[in-house]
Amino acid sequence: MSEPSEPVRHAGESAYLVTGRRRGAAERLRRAGVDSPEFDADELLAHVLGTSRAGLVLVEEVTPAQAEAYDALVARRADREPLQHLTGTAAFRYVELAVGPGVFVPRPETELLAGWAVEQAQAVVDTGRVPVVVDLCTGSGAIALSVATEVPAAEVHAVELGEPAHAWAARNLAGSGVDLRHGDMAAAFPDLDGTVDVVVCNPPYIPLEAYESVAPEARDHDPELALFSGQDGLVAVRVVERVAARLLRPGGVAGAEHADVQGESAPAVFAGTGRWSDVRDHRDLAGRSRFLTARLAR
Ligand SMILES: C[S@@+](CC[C@H](N)C(=O)[O-])C[C@H]1O[C@@H](n2cnc3c(N)ncnc32)[C@H](O)[C@@H]1O
Repeated sequence: MSEPSEPVRHAGESAYLVTGRRRGAAERLRRAGVDSPEFDADELLAHVLGTSRAGLVLVEEVTPAQAEAYDALVARRADREPLQHLTGTAAFRYVELAVGPGVFVPRPETELLAGWAVEQAQAVVDTGRVPVVVDLCTGSGAIALSVATEVPAAEVHAVELGEPAHAWAARNLAGSGVDLRHGDMAAAFPDLDGTVDVVVCNPPYIPLEAYESVAPEARDHDPELALFSGQDGLVAVRVVERVAARLLRPGGVAGAEHADVQGESAPAVFAGTGRWSDVRDHRDLAGRSRFLTARLAR
């Protein structure tokens, strides 16, 4: 067995030096307009070699077959296929989701909203009750799985309209205890009316007219149903407001992600109905408006 600090060598076949290949791949991705070329080049190499990015420091050479597989993945990434479709997984808070064609790739910014839902659910646990949490528009199941994992006492329900996305969610939520349903959030969970503590949702929110400005990874690979929501991008948020008002118990809370330019218009959807108190908007560390929260009036 080799010392931990020794590089791993793949014996038998003529080898390719890793460092140059990584650099070349990153340069190719940069020229293709990929946002994080070094990171993506390393993630893909780690995927091909069955290791982690940290594990790459132990690798000096790859076999011809590995080099060929790597080049093929880098070419697909340069064509702006999402990194997570190529590796088959997306990390989200403390969980890994299986993702691929037909499902929205969960984004790091949504971890904030999921963290808010976790805190709200935990606050109910702290009062000695079992929190009831509903994730509308669950996609891969990222938010629902995070709440179920981080607040094991919670009763978590999730709904998804898209057929392929629902199948991905079923795979990700298997064994988690989450009650996953297939259908339109507008009519979802009539059995839970007036009983829910936390409604959380990352709905579609891009205005149709913004189509051209959406990054190719999203526009060409995320399902349309996951992205666009009418001329002003707020059609789904209006549905979320109505559904949350129906599902929540008095004093229950709702949280919904929105576009950074909707920091006033999205909370206004809630504030304008007169049904909510404590309507407020939340920013990320970069100061961008990310999600709104509101409490159903008692
Ligand atoms: C922006 S994605 C968010 C997915 C996931 N919650 C996440 O944060 O990664 C929105 C999701 O809502 C689903 N969706 C859109 N309209 C819906 C509706 N009326 N009822 C249920 N799901 C819907 C889409 O199919 C998509 O999976």
